[in-house]
Amino acid sequence: MRKIRVAVIGCGKISGMHLESITALEEAELVAVCDIKSERAAEKAEKFYVKAYTDYHEMFEKEELDAVHICLPHYLHTVVSQDAFRKGIHVLCEKPMSIRYEDAVETVELAEQCGLQYGVIFQGRYNTHARFIKQRIEDGRLGAVKCARAILSWYHPDEYYSRSDWKGTWDKEGGGVIINQAIHSLDLSNWYINSVPIEVQASLHNRAHKDIEVEDSAEGLIRYENGALLAFYVMNNYLVNEPVEIRLQCEHGKVVYTKGEAVITYADGTVESMKNKPQEIVSYTGGASYWGTQHAVQVHQFYKAVLGLEALELSGRAALKTQKLVCEIYQSNDGRI
Ligand SMILES: NC(=O)c1ccc[n+]([C@@H]2O[C@H](COP(=O)([O-])OP(=O)(O)OC[C@H]3O[C@@H](n4cnc5c(N)ncnc54)[C@H](O)[C@@H]3O)[C@@H](O)[C@H]2O)c1
Repeated sequence: MRKIRVAVIGCGKISGMHLESITALEEAELVAVCDIKSERAAEKAEKFYVKAYTDYHEMFEKEELDAVHICLPHYLHTVVSQDAFRKGIHVLCEKPMSIRYEDAVETVELAEQCGLQYGVIFQGRYNTHARFIKQRIEDGRLGAVKCARAILSWYHPDEYYSRSDWKGTWDKEGGGVIINQAIHSLDLSNWYINSVPIEVQASLHNRAHKDIEVEDSAEGLIRYENGALLAFYVMNNYLVNEPVEIRLQCEHGKVVYTKGEAVITYADGTVESMKNKPQEIVSYTGGASYWGTQHAVQVHQFYKAVLGLEALELSGRAALKTQKLVCEIYQSNDGRI
């Protein structure tokens, strides 16, 4: 079998998850890495025995790539994805797919016109216990979600922002805790509710990070077409990283989802629980624990789609729903903090 020729663009914090996943999967061959900071590209190139580039256009010209993983600041996601599609290269892009919803739609349409796979990372959907909940909703044992509540309270010190040349800015990050951290909880909740948001009310604040432009906390209420409600309370200004929590009230029972376990209590009092099983493809330990370890599972599914073996599960078109919600949350606050 010919291996998929892959490169990673952006050699910062999350790139390790992608690089370890690529090299562990037999379908792919890592051929190059790229970062405008040459020392970052050089370090990864040396570690993984591949070529280093500082200009992704040059890499596209020279490497005959089949697919790229985009691990860049948010404002570059759609620009670079579109450049890749125009060169006939499949894209797996880190969340969020864009800052502006219109850019995400344009990129999805371009990928479809080009007949290329466009995957968007939401590795939380690949947690064993997250999938178990989805299965119980769909097989009717839990039934539809009537209301959901998502809580996220994490610690991001001032240095998290001061060390970065893009985080904490409207133009490059596109927001704060909503677009970068809570997007995972919003995505899971949206996936479970599986309806169209018709009313979005939110209030965004900066309570503890006075040196950045964007929100470090937010709360809101979303009403869906099918009558379901989603309430969220999220912050980056807590003193520790607490596990995320999502609670669901469904037609036939309730769910408590935390980082490591899902507990379902059915209306008749029966309890069913499922612990998250760490994926066995790679044992990457270089990341923050709240990232989870499921990147490799999603990367693997993307490669099977690139090879035409399976339909892509988390396509750009599927990810548009969460992108739209995120953008509507910012609009509902009128962009003011
Ligand atoms: N899925 C998750 O759980 C998870 C966790 C962390 C980060 N992320 C996402 O990963 C992405 C990257 O985040 P990060 O924390 O690794 O950021 P980072 O700042 O550590 O890394 C980004 C890298 O991109 C490089 N870069 C910037 N412009 C470039 C260009 N034009 N060409 C090549 N390289 C360029 C920077 O030099 C930097 O090394 C973001 O979208 C973020 O939201 C996802």
